[in-house]
Amino acid sequence: MQTPYYLIDKSRLLPNLQKIAWLREASGAKALLALKCFATWSVFDFMADYMDGSTSSSLYEVKLGHTRFPGETHAYSVAYADHEMAEVLAHSDKIIFNSIGQLNKFAGAAQGHVRGLRANPGVSTSGFDLADPARPFSRLGESDPARIAEVADRISGLMFHNNCENDSFERFDEMLTLIEDRFGAVLPSMEWVSLGGGIHFTGDGYPLDRLAARLKAFAARFGVQVYLEPGEAAITGAATLEVTVLDTMFNGKNLAIVDSSIEAHMLDLLIYRESAKISPDTGPHEWMICGKSCLAGDIFGEFRFDAPLQAGDRISFQDAAGYTMVKKNWFNGVKMPGIAIRELDGTTRLVRDFGYDDFAAALS
Ligand SMILES: Cc1ncc(COP(=O)(O)O)c(C=O)c1O
Repeated sequence: MQTPYYLIDKSRLLPNLQKIAWLREASGAKALLALKCFATWSVFDFMADYMDGSTSSSLYEVKLGHTRFPGETHAYSVAYADHEMAEVLAHSDKIIFNSIGQLNKFAGAAQGHVRGLRANPGVSTSGFDLADPARPFSRLGESDPARIAEVADRISGLMFHNNCENDSFERFDEMLTLIEDRFGAVLPSMEWVSLGGGIHFTGDGYPLDRLAARLKAFAARFGVQVYLEPGEAAITGAATLEVTVLDTMFNGKNLAIVDSSIEAHMLDLLIYRESAKISPDTGPHEWMICGKSCLAGDIFGEFRFDAPLQAGDRISFQDAAGYTMVKKNWFNGVKMPGIAIRELDGTTRLVRDFGYDDFAAALS
């Protein structure tokens, strides 16, 4: 199979899904895949056996979720355009508005549809200003419980998202307590509450049983159906980006140039100034792995190898599923990675390849 390609390994996806299924069972919460994180629909049928459906951030995502991911489909968007509303409603079981303004604006169009509102608790676990939904002046949801109470008769649910890459149960517990304290007056009039994504409960050692008990108690206290919207937790560790070394250089450091680009194929890492990961990352030879785009800082990171690298060597970057495949782009016209799936029996098949025609079709 020609590199570059993303490789989704079902045997690495499965343990995450089994934990999600266990949590659903033990807590009563429903789990919807957040398509903003991962939208590679070839594995949706496989994932749907362990999850309840999907949630979205745009018309196109809700349409993809509705047509490809069996189960419930939640629609959410920071703002809907008038011309999108009919299609959004046709492809969703619930619509969650980001503001009271949009809830009012589409009151007529969405009448009879299950409606919810995004609430912003004003605090989050994010360490990055760029990704902090509770940053000052945040546009992500309504923050005043009194204003939400005024429209409570027009909605049946609330959506919160203030956990970000949160792998601590204690921090999650604090966040939920805060929501209970701040929105406790309006929660009993709701039928459902989504707690969003960002809870890294599929990680090793996470106290799933405590999370389940906490969610169950929250649901019972307010009489609500709880939803979770895992993105990263569902697919973490499940995919790699497979690349090949094209050239090597020495410029004070050993440099290897690969047939991929961090700017084009793992953009999220560049945005958050993180290094890619390889496994193992041991050995006496240190090499900087660079992308083939013209961006001077198109660098995947510095890694250790058992032997000096040479053209033709293969490298696998770990964790290439979340916020990675959804952000791939055609910068520099670098060949977009294909998509391959490794089945549980170990066989691998290429499910999508991209070529010149796709590059040309992306612009006009
Ligand atoms: C509203 C909402 N739900 C779910 C998610 C998924 O979060 P994660 O991939 O961290 O689980 C996000 C991420 O930004 C979000 O904004």
